[in-house]
Amino acid sequence: MKVAIVGATGLVGGQMLEVLKERNFPVSELIPVASARSAGKQLSFKGKEYTVVTPEKAIEMKPDVALFSAGGSTSLEWAPKFAEAGITVVDNSSAWRMDATKKLVVPEINADSLTKEDKIIANPNCSTIQMVVAINPLHKKYKINRIVVSTYQSVTGTGKAAVDQLMNERAGLEGPMAYKYKIDLNVIPQIDVFLDNGYTKEEMKMVNETKKIMRDDSIAVTATAIRIPVMGGHSESVNIEFENEFDLADIRKILSNAPGVVLVDDIANAVYPMPKDAHNRDEVFVGRIRRDETQPKTLNLWIVADNLRKGAATNTVQIAEYLKENGLI
Ligand code: A2P
Repeated sequence: MKVAIVGATGLVGGQMLEVLKERNFPVSELIPVASARSAGKQLSFKGKEYTVVTPEKAIEMKPDVALFSAGGSTSLEWAPKFAEAGITVVDNSSAWRMDATKKLVVPEINADSLTKEDKIIANPNCSTIQMVVAINPLHKKYKINRIVVSTYQSVTGTGKAAVDQLMNERAGLEGPMAYKYKIDLNVIPQIDVFLDNGYTKEEMKMVNETKKIMRDDSIAVTATAIRIPVMGGHSESVNIEFENEFDLADIRKILSNAPGVVLVDDIANAVYPMPKDAHNRDEVFVGRIRRDETQPKTLNLWIVADNLRKGAATNTVQIAEYLKENGLI
C-alpha cells in the first residue's frame, strides 16, 4: 500500500509511523506530508529515507490511503481534495467527527459500519476513544444510562509546543507558551475553547462522540476535562449509572475479555493503571473498579491510555488495517 501521513513531522504523525512499523502494516511506499515549512526534509522509515512533501504534491503521488493528523483546518481544506482524487482519508482531527455523512470509528466497536463509499473516516477524540473501548462491553450487558467523567490529560495531547513548554519550565528556561498559564506544578481546568453552555469543546466532544460511536443517543454524558503536567497518557475517573443491576465479578470478567482492554486492578498490592505504564502501549488500562456506594446500579472506574497511541495513532492505523483486510481500500 502507498500510505500518506499528513502531519508526519508532528507528535501524532511520528507515532503513526512507529505504529505502522510495529504492526507491520504493508507499506510499499511512504509519503510523509507536512506544511510547506517542512517540505524537502528527509524522514526515515524502516531504514529508507523519504522526502517530506506538501499535501498538493501528495495527491499527485496517488496514495491508497492517507492518515491525517495535521489539525482541523488542514483536514477541512485537504481531506475533501484527497477524497475527490479517490484516496481514502482516515482523519484524526475533529473536523469531520460530528458530520452526519461521516463515520466516527473505534474498530473494537463500530468498524462494521464502514463501506467502500466512506472516503473520509473520522478518528474520535483521544479521551473519548479510551473511555468507549472500556465501557462499550459493559453497556452491551447492563445498559448505561448516565456517565460522569473527569479527565486528567497529558500535555502531549496539545502537540510538540506543549511538551516544549513543560520541559522548558522544568529546566527553568524561558520559551514560547502553548498554554495561557504555566503548566508545570499546575493544573489547567480548560482544554480547547469554552462554548456558550460553559463547557469546553473537549468536554462536549466526549458528550457527543460517545453517543455517535456507541450508536445510542439515550446515553447521558457529563464531562470535565483537565490538563495536568504529565506525559505518557490520559487518565479518567468515570462514574457509570446502569439501567440494570450488575455483578462486580462479572464486570471484571467482561473487562478482562474486552478487546483492547487490560485489567490492572489489584489494590492489595497498590496496582492500578498509571500514565507512566501506559506510555507507548496500544491498550486501554482499567482499574480501581468499585461500586458507587451512594446509589444503586452505579460503578466507578479509572481508565488510562496513551493518548498518542490508542487515543490517536493506533486507532487510526487499526481503521486502515480494517479497510485493508476487508478490501475497502
Ligand atoms: P510542520 O511540522 O511542517 O508544521 P503537532 O500537533 O505535533 O504540532 O503537529 C502538527 C503537524 O501538522 C505537523 O506535522 C505539521 O507540519 C502539520 N501541519 C500543520 N499545518 C499544515 C498544513 N497546512 N499542511 C500540511 N501539514 C500541516
